[in-house]
Amino acid sequence: MPWLVSKVAQLVVTYLNMGKGTAKKDSGVLMSAPLLAALSSPANDRRTQVKVGQALERVWLQATNLGIRLHPMNKILQLPEIKAEVTKLIPMGDVMPQLTFRLGYAEPETAYTPRRPLNEVLI
Ligand SMILES: Cc1cc2nc3c(=O)[nH]c(=O)nc-3n(C[C@H](O)[C@H](O)[C@H](O)COP(=O)(O)O)c2cc1C
Repeated sequence: MPWLVSKVAQLVVTYLNMGKGTAKKDSGVLMSAPLLAALSSPANDRRTQVKVGQALERVWLQATNLGIRLHPMNKILQLPEIKAEVTKLIPMGDVMPQLTFRLGYAEPETAYTPRRPLNEVLI
């Protein structure tokens, strides 16, 4: 939904100036996204939040299976002002956005994010 992308990008620039150039970078990333999605729920209790996380896992796995990349962009929901604005943009009515992400085809990865060894983090 291009109108949603540009609206959200505008909100990011307005509210999310968390670091030098961050809002501009985030806005560029959002504007270039072929698809921006929000997983939403009618309730907001712990059980629902876990279920939304499970739904994200399924969407992410299916996207990967199809060669589509998924990039979570949840920072836009961390400020109540911007979350309220995003909520108003969801056409389904009385639901709460829980997870926002962009989807699209990407160049193959050339480098991976470094990870600590498993035995350092598993007790
Ligand atoms: C719940 C969740 C929320 C995230 N929110 C953001 C975000 O707001 N902005 C962003 O640039 N990346 C966000 N990320 C993406 C991560 O920064 C990272 O790019 C992604 O998890 C893949 O990282 P990896 O290279 O560590 O595998 C989020 C990831 C998760 C799991």
